[in-house]
Amino acid sequence: MGSQKSEIVILGIETSCDETSAAVLVNGTDLRSHIISSQIVTHQRYGGVVPEIASREHSLHIQPVVQEALDSAKVSFSDLSAIAVTYGPGLVGSLLVGVSGAKAMAYAAGIPLIGINHLEGHIYANFLHNPDLEFPFLALLVSGGHTHLIFFEAHGQYQVLGHTRDDAAGEALDKVARTLGLGYPGGPQIQKVALDGDAQAFKFPRAMLEKDSLDFSFSGMKSAVLNTLNSARMRGETLNVPDLAASFQQAVVDVLVWKALRAIDQTGAKTLVLAGGVAANSLLRETLNKELSERSVRFVYPPPLFCTDNGAMIAITGYYHYLAGDFSPWTLNAVPGLGLV
Ligand code: KG4
Ligand code: ZN
Repeated sequence: MGSQKSEIVILGIETSCDETSAAVLVNGTDLRSHIISSQIVTHQRYGGVVPEIASREHSLHIQPVVQEALDSAKVSFSDLSAIAVTYGPGLVGSLLVGVSGAKAMAYAAGIPLIGINHLEGHIYANFLHNPDLEFPFLALLVSGGHTHLIFFEAHGQYQVLGHTRDDAAGEALDKVARTLGLGYPGGPQIQKVALDGDAQAFKFPRAMLEKDSLDFSFSGMKSAVLNTLNSARMRGETLNVPDLAASFQQAVVDVLVWKALRAIDQTGAKTLVLAGGVAANSLLRETLNKELSERSVRFVYPPPLFCTDNGAMIAITGYYHYLAGDFSPWTLNAVPGLGLV
């Protein structure tokens, strides 16, 4: 027995893409354990996540990962208050492994099941290290599948102000990295290679869209890199990869920062919360840090490990749902296209 009955002990499970992760969180602040089993090496040879392989890997790892999370936290199922699990968006086969596993465990333990929206999870990761985070705040969510600007008024109450009309920022980084032969996942590779490059070497377009629009578009920028590469190849020229990576990273960051500042001007928000895998990018963090401190806007972002997919962000979101008595029925299903409403 590792916990007092007065404590709220949440097991969070994440399996929406290529990480099998579980975490035990006590009273919303005490992260007792956090286990991440990454499939990156398995998918690397294919240049991206292969859905069929991802679900098979989750099936293999979910039970040992959960057991390790419980053991490291020194708790057993009987100590848990609830089990929170990602039910969307994501790859359907991957989500189903987590949802079915969580359902079976919660039912057997006689405790509530809490289905979590993965996108909310990314944003709520910020409460792990900043429990004093106050509403309202503006969130910039930049992941492999999503690019959103969201205004949060209270727990579970928010309004989407803008989103990408085509590729997500992470998706564009991954595609350009693949074309440059930098491997998967592309964002961290671009960041690494860009350190040796000149961000001004290539002028890629920055799609700012209509005046006042908070929507994003990254596909034109991505195509510009691919066209630049193809034209050079046809001329028999070789381009400098670090310069290309640095110039593309700069263009992506410029658009993200510019739109975030536009949203701050429009809403008067006093806090910006950064979330999602691309939030781990140091150029994005540094640029926002500089711009926001000049405007006296508080800037909150998670440590890199908590930017990419992880079970702790699902546990903390589950904690707030638990406090609100917001539980899921046993009919909870995977919803691959789940959005933010
Ligand atoms: O949030 P996440 O782990 O998964 C989704 O929910 O999509 O985000 C993954 C994305 C990938 O596109 C990856 O290339 C990008 O986050 N990423 C980064 C960095 N680390 C991960 N992009 C830029 N710089 C990074 N350091
Ligand atoms: Zn994610």
